[in-house]
Amino acid sequence: MSRLRVAIQKSGRLSDRSLGVLKRCGLRFAHSKDKLFWFGQDFPVDLLLVRDDDIPRMLLDGVCELGIVGENIAREVMLERNGGTGLTCLRKLGFGQCRLSLAVPEDLEIGSLQELQGKRVATSYPALTRALLGEQGVTVQAVELSGSVEIAPGLGTADAISDLVSTGSTLRANHLRELEVLFRSQAALYSPSTPLPDEKQQLLDRLLARLEGVLQAAE
Ligand code: PRP
Ligand code: MG
Ligand code: ZN
Repeated sequence: MSRLRVAIQKSGRLSDRSLGVLKRCGLRFAHSKDKLFWFGQDFPVDLLLVRDDDIPRMLLDGVCELGIVGENIAREVMLERNGGTGLTCLRKLGFGQCRLSLAVPEDLEIGSLQELQGKRVATSYPALTRALLGEQGVTVQAVELSGSVEIAPGLGTADAISDLVSTGSTLRANHLRELEVLFRSQAALYSPSTPLPDEKQQLLDRLLARLEGVLQAAE
């Protein structure tokens, strides 16, 4: 009997909503609180609780068939690892909205992205940032940081940042000004682009039909 594995964020901004949408699809899991593998009851879909940044790689590596992750992270990993391909976005989920924005120090007199040509940009999304800026003819030096990106300009290690913004309060607290939105992101359900065996595909189709009902009822 085939089973599917779906990876979601263990703890963070997407965790509760990710689990919530799966439960509303009728999935039930047997778990103890701290275990990272939850066995699916009734419906053969098991849950993996992992770091969100690891989800796209796990899908590309075939560790699981489904994952809920921000579009920004999926795009970044596809660009880094796979020429921008390899994962299929099955459904945007309508939560976890944020934007990847280029921001500069408040007091820096800069009016357009073009003025950043050749500058140092701190980011956790180097490949996505380079690709999006490249579309606008701007080439930058990406300075990669895995978090607290907003601190870099004040430390003098970057001229600008490219990071996720949701309320904008982290930018304000660090005296940064949003110059331009590069990419709008939300949580989405992804699978590897390679075909699944028939039995797994049938399971996936049943799950997607339930998901469609759940999401349409919520709209
Ligand atoms: C995210 C993001 C920004 C901040 C934006 O960081 O990287 O730093 O939230 O949110 P705001 O616009 O509402 O202030 P997170 O809290 O995930 O920490 P991290 O960057 O260290 O991972
Ligand atoms: Mg994270
Ligand atoms: Zn951050």
